[in-house]
Amino acid sequence: MSVTLTLDQRRDIECTTTAIKRVSVVGLGKLGSPIVASFASCGYETLGLDINPVFLEALAAHRAPVCETGLQELIAKNQDRIFATSDWNELVSRSDASFLVVPTPSDPDGAFSNRFVLDACEKLGTALRHKEGFHLIVVVSTVMPGSSEREIIPAIERASHKKVGKDFGYCYSPTLIALGSVIKNFLHPDLVMIGQSDPHSGEMLESFYRKVIGEDPVIHRVNPAEAELAKISINTFVTTKISFANMLGMLAEGLGSVNVDRVTKILGSDSRIGPKYLTAGASYGGPCFPRDNRAFSRAAELAGVETHIPQATDATNRKLITNIVRKVEDVFGGVLGRVGIVGVAYKMDTDVVEEAMGIRLASLLAKDGFSVIVYDPLAMESARKALGDSVGYAESVAECFENTGAVVITNPYRAIASEITPDMAGGKRIIDCWRIFPDSRSDECPDKGKIHYDDARARQHPLQSDIRGAGAGTIPSDPREMRVQHETLDYFVDQKT
Ligand SMILES: NC(=O)c1ccc[n+]([C@@H]2O[C@H](COP(=O)([O-])OP(=O)(O)OC[C@H]3O[C@@H](n4cnc5c(N)ncnc54)[C@H](O)[C@@H]3O)[C@@H](O)[C@H]2O)c1
Repeated sequence: MSVTLTLDQRRDIECTTTAIKRVSVVGLGKLGSPIVASFASCGYETLGLDINPVFLEALAAHRAPVCETGLQELIAKNQDRIFATSDWNELVSRSDASFLVVPTPSDPDGAFSNRFVLDACEKLGTALRHKEGFHLIVVVSTVMPGSSEREIIPAIERASHKKVGKDFGYCYSPTLIALGSVIKNFLHPDLVMIGQSDPHSGEMLESFYRKVIGEDPVIHRVNPAEAELAKISINTFVTTKISFANMLGMLAEGLGSVNVDRVTKILGSDSRIGPKYLTAGASYGGPCFPRDNRAFSRAAELAGVETHIPQATDATNRKLITNIVRKVEDVFGGVLGRVGIVGVAYKMDTDVVEEAMGIRLASLLAKDGFSVIVYDPLAMESARKALGDSVGYAESVAECFENTGAVVITNPYRAIASEITPDMAGGKRIIDCWRIFPDSRSDECPDKGKIHYDDARARQHPLQSDIRGAGAGTIPSDPREMRVQHETLDYFVDQKT
């Protein structure tokens, strides 16, 4: 499908474009609810629908259905424009465009399942039968390349008895957001993808987005399959970069004379590479990165194309976790003991624990027979659901450190670092994946000989001791007696998925 338009064609379309004045959002979960609040904050009357009555009631009462930074405030501020309904006919008749943000769970082979999308499209399509005006349907959920044209558009046409591009419009428009900063990322994106079924639909959505995101972000208008592939490609590329950095971290440890942060800093200063997502740290997790990577690999397989990169990225990501299990085992020297894990959410500022390193680590160590205690500033409830009674739950960082032989810190909690006193940390091995402890901490600590920080930066070649910021400068005779230094890490600042 060609989507390149002449200037005259664009002008014709602009003249006849149906303006979107009222919108609806189907699916009020982690992404859908912030989208409702974002549209309303831009002045649009926004109607939300969900099959989960709890979420629906919450939105109707102007309470945030999910935990997300700034969501409650934004809903409260724009409550005059936010409505909830369980009636599909009302949804369609009271809006000009419907955004579908329903789950696309991963099948065992890695492909996204379209079952919730198709269910919503069938209901939306049926309601569309009775609508006279043009309606735009925008699928935001992440789907497999080819889904829109092969499955989704035909499902809407079947249910509505209408024709795409003539009676209704269709766009696939995925978002790149990070949980914890969904509203900010949604309203201020780097880029927007519009996979349009026809130019009129794309124009309609682009005009609407411009009022939401302003003139600056680039909007890519392509066909649906191109947007579908682009979305998972972005995340596959980023995960490849993360695993590359983590591979360097493991290599630096193996070499024993290399500060990995200095190496990644060199790489990141090459403009072809760039510094973002290039810090050796923890494994990536969450609802998008791991799934998009595996979906990419499956999409290639379905297209008959052999790939190695996404599989290697995924394997490296898992390897990082088993490496930490091995380190913990080494600390205890074959004896079982008590291990603390600070951070079970997949990143900071969220309660989501899906594919989180802290959760995987806790469950592997508990299976090994270790007594595991976990702490997270936001995700204790989610952790309980995921780990049950296989581990203990601390109410504070201090409790997570109590009576442990080793503590793993999985997220870059700088605020938490300042809560960790020498008394708490003394005599135990701290596996500090993100080097959150400034170098000065170990100097300030009267009991510093007993605090063992462990990270890939810590081993320094003796000849490098004169390099500025080189940390301890020598390889400690006991590898557990490693000191760390602080450097600014920006990996987590912009973690969009
Ligand atoms: N959460 C993220 O970080 C993120 C980022 C980018 C893309 N995505 C994609 O966005 C989509 C939604 O993700 P999410 O995290 O918001 O999921 P979620 O599970 O948090 O929310 C989905 C909501 O849809 C509702 N729902 C399911 N079927 C429905 C139906 N037929 N009709 C109406 N409502 C229905 C559910 O009850 C739920 O409340 C997924 O495809 C996901 O891959 C998510």
